[in-house]
Amino acid sequence: MEAAYDDIAEWYENEFLKLQRSMADDHEFADRIGVDQALVELLGEGSGICLEVGCGTGIYADRVASLGWTPVGIDISSGMLGFAKDRLAVAHSDGCELPFATDSVPAVISVMTHTDAPDYPQMLREMTRVLKPGGVLVHVGVHPCFCGSFADRTDAPNVTVRPGYLESGWTPAKGPEAGTLGQNGQVRDKVGAGHFALADLLNLFPKNGLTVDRLFEGFEPTPITLSVRATSKVATATER
Ligand SMILES: C[S@@+](CC[C@H](N)C(=O)[O-])C[C@H]1O[C@@H](n2cnc3c(N)ncnc32)[C@H](O)[C@@H]1O
Repeated sequence: MEAAYDDIAEWYENEFLKLQRSMADDHEFADRIGVDQALVELLGEGSGICLEVGCGTGIYADRVASLGWTPVGIDISSGMLGFAKDRLAVAHSDGCELPFATDSVPAVISVMTHTDAPDYPQMLREMTRVLKPGGVLVHVGVHPCFCGSFADRTDAPNVTVRPGYLESGWTPAKGPEAGTLGQNGQVRDKVGAGHFALADLLNLFPKNGLTVDRLFEGFEPTPITLSVRATSKVATATER
């Protein structure tokens, strides 16, 4: 079955990511919007498998490896995996049905996917299922308030939040808003976008029994990304 990103994988790798990375303003992090920094600060150093769900072309594999983890990726788009396979071990899979055993992986990350997965709540349930007790889960995504389908950044640095923000749902590609969302719009005009209002997004973590340890907002003066570090529960002696 063809996935939304199959048609745009080459553009995403060779134009979109290249542009995003060329705008990095220092040598410490690979981008300005806080993705790379969120991985450093929220995932942190560790060892064992770090599963990236929706790894795309695998551009963050180097960073994950630099933190000591062994990066492994899955994605639903074979076009994106065509690039990723040279960067990390990959499998073609739906993030809503992960080919991993329950409680088996010490770290799971997902970068810029909640706006793409048709059922992100189910994807987060699956990521939680495969996570070892005490394991770390890092979600990195566009900021729902300042960079989602309802945040108009055409007059940056001002951001206008349009009515509709509170309604989580799907905005189709090439809708009336096409071309108005800046760099993020370039992707969204091609594949559409899922939107979760802030509370709907953050409530997914405790709903899955995860503890939110830390949040991180990337980009100034109004953030483009919002990242979440959460940990899975370690069963107490009475629960075992
Ligand atoms: C915006 S791209 C992000 C790719 C990569 N994480 C990055 O930051 O460059 C979104 C990715 O999510 C993947 N995706 C969407 N729904 C998925 C699902 N149900 N299971 C696995 N991957 C999915 C897409 O194929 C695409 O590669």
